[in-house]
Amino acid sequence: MAQTWTPNSWRQKPIQQVPDYPDLAALDSVEARLAKYPPLVFAGEARRLKSALANVADGRGFLLQGGDCAESFAEHGADTIRDFFRAFLQMAVVLTFGAQQPVVKVGRIAGQFAKPRSSGIEKQGDVSLPSYRGDIINGIEFTEEARVPNPERQVMAYRQSAATLNLLRAFAMGGYANLENVHQWMLGFVKDSPQAERYRKLADRISETMDFMKAIGITAENHPSLRETDFFTSHEALLLGYEQALTRVDSTSGDWYATSGHMIWIGDRTRQPDHAHIEYCRGIKNPLGLKCGPSLTADGLIELIDILNPANEAGRLTLICRFGHDKVAEHLPRLIRAVEREGKKVVWSCDPMHGNTITLNNYKTRPFERILSEVESFFQIHRAEGSHPGGIHIEMTGNDVTECTGGARALSGDDLADRYHTHCDPRLNADQALELAFLLAERMKGGRDEKKMVVNG
Ligand code: TRP
Ligand code: MN
Repeated sequence: MAQTWTPNSWRQKPIQQVPDYPDLAALDSVEARLAKYPPLVFAGEARRLKSALANVADGRGFLLQGGDCAESFAEHGADTIRDFFRAFLQMAVVLTFGAQQPVVKVGRIAGQFAKPRSSGIEKQGDVSLPSYRGDIINGIEFTEEARVPNPERQVMAYRQSAATLNLLRAFAMGGYANLENVHQWMLGFVKDSPQAERYRKLADRISETMDFMKAIGITAENHPSLRETDFFTSHEALLLGYEQALTRVDSTSGDWYATSGHMIWIGDRTRQPDHAHIEYCRGIKNPLGLKCGPSLTADGLIELIDILNPANEAGRLTLICRFGHDKVAEHLPRLIRAVEREGKKVVWSCDPMHGNTITLNNYKTRPFERILSEVESFFQIHRAEGSHPGGIHIEMTGNDVTECTGGARALSGDDLADRYHTHCDPRLNADQALELAFLLAERMKGGRDEKKMVVNG
């Protein structure tokens, strides 16, 4: 691994999950075009996220990371983005106020287009076609034509990411995220949801606090932190040709950064230490996520940490654990112990989605109870090991979809057909996401009070 890194050194390594582009000249030409386009994010922003995550790694704060499993071209629109952002802000405010901890906000958005697949082939009846790999690669329609990887889709994905990011920046910095609007974020369907009353009470307390602060001269006008929020983007860095085209040298530091998003992560299927995805990620300076599933050994994890974060810099690496509600107790403790023993600085995040997928009435779904159960275990295990449960990674939407069963509205298997819109995995709807946030806030607070009690003797 001591070999020199370049933005294209990954091309010398074995690689998993690559699409079979029929026209390689067209692919080259798209990548050359993308390489001249403006960066989507700046290195300085990625560094800011890294320092926020460094605090989380040190036990101060919580990472909230969430969004679509796969963004789609068809659903690109202002309302979808606003509804997502609104649900996300509600979660963030519940966590910040409820748990009294800073929340680092990272969307799975503005670049989350490429999907790893368990099989390269999808079969329906007697027909076999190449699998759908995300809108950045091919089309979801089950036709031969749609499933041919088309490089022009990378340009579409880039442009959609730019437009999405533009609106998110406006929302985050232009007034929408102002804490004075905490009641307005409830407008929309959540108003009559089971979480509404709970949220309203919390919003009332925040408004009261804001009124008090205003009386003593602290207002949103003179304190930008009350009216603005740092919102970052992230996606799985799966399609490396696209990532390479957007890899740029930062003029202030001379370092290489991925400019396709602030944080990128490595999937559980593409984390082989001597393969292309690890090679690409080790050379860029962005904060990285690493998905950790049941097949990851403790030694394997330490080897990957040494490659991805040789300087042991806090904030560089987030371990996104996705074991499943019935496997987390078996796998998480051994990884935590190895990391603690070696003194590695990481953020521990819980992905309670990907290990809890089942098929019901021919729909891929995730029972909400299992999602909550994995989260509960995640907290309990970290408390027992003395490590910091630092974050959550979820697939969610701001819309009222019916993709995961359960939750306060008790969605059943028969309800799935109503509004099952995902292009890939089942997502929490806004209501379920908010319910999860309340649970998280309680658990985070619980841990803190316990620590206080110990300190007070
Ligand atoms: N700037 C602070 C933060 O981002 C407070 C804040 C402003 C906030 N708007 C918010 C927190 C919306 C949560 C949601 O934490
Ligand atoms: Mn997914």
